[in-house]
Amino acid sequence: MSLSNFLSTLDDLQQQALDAFETANDADSLEEARVRYLGAKKGALKDVQKQMGAIDPSDRKTAGMRLNEFKTKVQASFDESKARLGGGDQSSLAPTFDPTLPGIRPQLGHVHPITQTINHLMEIMGRMGFEAAEGPEVEDPWHNFVALNIPEDHPARDPLDNFYLATAKTTSEKTTSDRNVEGEQLLRSQTSTVQIRVMEHQSPPIRVISLGRVYRPDDPDATHFPMFHQMEGLYVDEHVTMANLKTVLRVFATNYLGGDVQIRFRPSFFPFTEPSVEVDFLWNGTWIEFGGAGMVDPAVFESVGYDPEKVSGFAFGLGVERLCMRRHGITDIRDLYSCDMRFLSQF
Ligand code: DAH
Repeated sequence: MSLSNFLSTLDDLQQQALDAFETANDADSLEEARVRYLGAKKGALKDVQKQMGAIDPSDRKTAGMRLNEFKTKVQASFDESKARLGGGDQSSLAPTFDPTLPGIRPQLGHVHPITQTINHLMEIMGRMGFEAAEGPEVEDPWHNFVALNIPEDHPARDPLDNFYLATAKTTSEKTTSDRNVEGEQLLRSQTSTVQIRVMEHQSPPIRVISLGRVYRPDDPDATHFPMFHQMEGLYVDEHVTMANLKTVLRVFATNYLGGDVQIRFRPSFFPFTEPSVEVDFLWNGTWIEFGGAGMVDPAVFESVGYDPEKVSGFAFGLGVERLCMRRHGITDIRDLYSCDMRFLSQF
C-alpha cells in the first residue's frame, strides 16, 4: 500500500470517527461508535494498524506519526462526547453495580395478631350497632372500683392484685399512714372502667364496646400474662333483658369463631352486675371461660346518675387473647408477646 493511499484512508476514517462521536446522542450509540473505530478486536484502528506492515519501510515513520495523530484526535473526540453525554469520569458509562446479583429482600412487617383480632372484633360488633369507646390505662379508684360497686374492703382492690402507682404528693400532704384514695392511681385491671366513663358523659340509649389493655400482677404462664386485652360491652336502654345479652354473645361467637361454637352461661358474681354469669365457649370438647357478663347493677346506674327504675342494661367483658388463641389454635399466651418472628409471621 502506498503512503498516499494510507494517509487518505486515515483522513477519511478520522472524519467518520469524529462525526460518529459528535453526533452520538446517548451512551449506547457512543459505545457502538467506540467499538467500531477504537475497538481492540475488530475496530477500524486495528485494521489500519495491520496495513502499516504493507507500507514501504522508508515511509513508515511518516505513516506512524500520522497514525499516532489519528489515535490522539479520535480518542480526544470520544472523551469529549463521553463527557457531554454522561459526566466526565471515565467509568460513568460502565454500570456502577452488578445487576445480576440477587437483591436484598426488604423485611415487611404486618399487623400483630392481637391488633388483627381487635380490628376483627370491632368489625363484628360494629355490625350489631356497637360503637367503639376508649378510656385511659392509668385510672383512678373511682372508675376502676368505686363507681363499679366494688367497696373499699373488696379483695379485688388488694395491692397484691393491682399495679398501684406511686402518686406525686407534696411533702406537707404526705403522712406515713396516708392511703388517700383520692390521689391514688393504678393501671386499670379491667375495661369495665370505660362503662363508667361512657355513662358519665352520655345518656341512654348506649351501645358501646371498648377494646384495650388491662394489667394484673399475674405470673406469666400458658394462660396468664400481666398485661392482656379485654373487650368490654355495654348496652343500656329501656327493657334490655338477659335474652338480649345471650343473643348478642351468641351471634358474636358464631361470627368470630365459626358456626359450630356453643356458648354457656354459669351463675356467678360480679359487684357491677346482678345477676352475673361466667361466659363459656366450647373449645375442643371442653368448656372454657372467656369472660363475665350480667345485667348492670342498679348501684352502678346510680353512681353515674341514671335512674335504675327507668333503664336497664347488660354488660360483658371477654378476654381478647383467649378469643385470638381459640380462633388460631394458639396454646400459649406468652407466644403472642415473645417477639419471636417465626411465631408472629404466621398470622
Ligand atoms: N371486668 C370483669 C373482669 O375483668 C369482666 C366482666 C364481668 C365485665 C362482668 C363485665 C361484666 O362487664 O358484666 O374479670
